[in-house]
Order: sequence, then structure tokens, then C-alpha cells
Amino acid sequence: MKLALIGYGNVGRALARLLRQKRRQFPFKITGIHTLRHGTAADPRGLPEDAPMGPRAESIDAFLDAAGAQIAVELTTLNPSTGEPAISHIRAAFARGMHVVTANKGPIAHCYAALRDEAARAGLGFRFESAVMDGAPVFNLWRHTMPGVNVLGFTGALNSTSKIVIETMERGGSFEDGLAEARRLGITEADGTFDLEGWDSAAKTAALANVLMDARTTPQEVSTRGIARLTPERVQELQSKGKTVRLISRGKRTGGRLSLRVRAEVLDRADILACTPGTSNILLFHTDLMGTFGTVSLDPQVEQTAYGVFSDLVSLLEP
Ligand SMILES: NC(=O)c1ccc[n+]([C@@H]2O[C@H](COP(=O)([O-])OP(=O)(O)OC[C@H]3O[C@@H](n4cnc5c(N)ncnc54)[C@H](OP(=O)(O)O)[C@@H]3O)[C@@H](O)[C@H]2O)c1
Repeated sequence: MKLALIGYGNVGRALARLLRQKRRQFPFKITGIHTLRHGTAADPRGLPEDAPMGPRAESIDAFLDAAGAQIAVELTTLNPSTGEPAISHIRAAFARGMHVVTANKGPIAHCYAALRDEAARAGLGFRFESAVMDGAPVFNLWRHTMPGVNVLGFTGALNSTSKIVIETMERGGSFEDGLAEARRLGITEADGTFDLEGWDSAAKTAALANVLMDARTTPQEVSTRGIARLTPERVQELQSKGKTVRLISRGKRTGGRLSLRVRAEVLDRADILACTPGTSNILLFHTDLMGTFGTVSLDPQVEQTAYGVFSDLVSLLEP
């Protein structure tokens, strides 16, 4: 299968490494790479490692035509306000009969149902496991292992940057030290305020609600407050009382009403939502038939995000 990569930053490069590592077993071939500032490379016969980048293709359509791939892999920067231009990239791929895999939660948070239906009508695959919790199974877990289950709600500590900032302040560092550490780890969004003001969590919350609960919502409809006003003094005061703060996403359906919110919540250190350190994430599903259960990912790195994309690619090979 030939792949056209739209976006070639942290995740795109990690995916290229993973594809090289697994190439004997899974012979995917990258035939195109398209970026914003670093130009475009395309060759339907396959690109070499470290392919030289030429001038940027004049449009996404020109790029996809030049790459001649069967699968578009959308890995551009998150835009939590609109999901664009990723949504248009995905539609351009569908229009060419290409399957799509993305790690970008913007399109899932903004128009999942429409994209799902467009893919289904065209007989194409549309996968997005890494949009929430990197490669840890969330959407595929629900899709493949929970027949007949209704998701009534979910609770998650899903934003790593905010946790690194809080932990840095607990150790006596400043808010800015924490943000710098998160940047060093390569886990912040290109615009770090998306993480700290809760937009990343709002996008994940909307994406979860859209896929698991057919919510047809957007990040703007998630009641959101981030950690931007948290100070080292407040964090250390809570720490001395055996408490900590986590940016928590909650979704809940009560009767016909769906409530979605993101808050910096004060938690006991022993709370299961507070127990995952560093870049670790936890998501609990509240269901009708399976009670409450969850997924935990301990210290995922960008390699695990790439794995989520890879697992989606492999799933497209299945009949
Ligand atoms: N990093 C993670 O651990 C992680 C985890 C889960 C999900 N994600 C999601 O995965 C996606 C990629 O993340 P990342 O960390 O790889 O981001 P990144 O390092 O900032 O890379 C983004 C890439 O997208 C390209 N790009 C941006 N706008 C574009 C446009 N309009 N057309 C073509 N290319 C464009 C950039 O081009 P230039 O190189 O020219 O700037 C860059 O190559 C994001 O949506 C993010 O939310 C990331």
C-alpha cells in the first residue's frame, strides 16, 4: 500500500521510522510527503529515506495526485477552533478514492459523523486511533470488543502537557519551566496555549463524545477551563494536604441531555485519575453493560502515537 503523508513533524517522522522498522512484515511505501513550510516530495515509485523536499505543491489536490497513493495519512497541526485545513485534506483524499488515517483530533472533534458517512458511502476506510491517548486502544477497543454496549459517559485525564506543568510546579519549578519541559518531550501542541487553556482536552472530549456517544458536537460546546491561572504556591499548598490537580475531561448523558466539560479538578493523590504520572493518560468508560472500565497508557512517547497510526494502517489491510 502506498502512503501520502500530509504533515511531517514529530508524528510523521516517528511513523516513517516505524514503517522502516516493520517494512519486511508490512510493506507500506511512502510515495508523498507534504508540509507547510518545508516543501513537498512525491514519487509514486516510493520515496527514499531522507527524501529531498522540493517546492511546496500548489494545493492538496496537486499533492495527492502527484503521490499516487491509496492511503492519505493526515498529520498536520491541530486547529481546535475549526478542524481545518485537516477536514479539507481528508475530503480531498476521499474525493480521490483514498482511505484516510489521521492522528489529528480536529476533524473528529468537529465533523466526525459527516466524515464517517462520506467514507462509508465511498466504501473507504477512515481511522483515527491516535486522536485520543496516542496508540492506546480507545476507538478500536470500542469498535472491536464492545458489541451491544452503550457508552453512557467517560472520565479522563488526557492532557500530558498540563500534568507535566503541574508536576514541575510541585517540585518547585515555575509554570514556564513546566511548559519548557513538556516542549522538550515533544508532547505539546504547536501552540502550547491549546494545552494549558484546555482546548486540547476540549477537542478530545468532543471527539470521544462524537465517536462513542454519537454527540455531533464541537469543542466550542464543551464547557472548558484550563490550568492557565494555576500558580506554584497553590499547587504546593494542595500538595501539602495530600492533593493534586489534574485537567479532567468528563462526558455524561442524563436522560436526553449530554453534558461535556473540562476542568482543572482538585483530587486526592490516591484518586485513580491522579495516579498516572508524567505523560501517562487514563480514560474510564461508563457503560450500560460493562459498568466502568478503562484504558491506561504509562508514559507514552511520540513512538506510541506513531504506533496508533500504524495500527490503523494495518487495519486497512484486513478484508
Ligand atoms: N505529538 C504527539 O505526541 C501527538 C499525539 C497525538 C496526536 N497528535 C496529533 O498529530 C498531529 C501531528 O502532530 P505533530 O506533533 O507531528 O505536529 P508537528 O510536529 O507540529 O508537525 C505538524 C506537521 O504538519 C505540517 N503542516 C501544518 N499545516 C499544514 C498544512 N496546511 N499543509 C501541509 N502540512 C501542514 C507541518 O509542516 P512544517 O514542517 O513545514 O511546519 C508539520 O510537518 C497533530 O494534529 C497532533 O494533534 C500528536
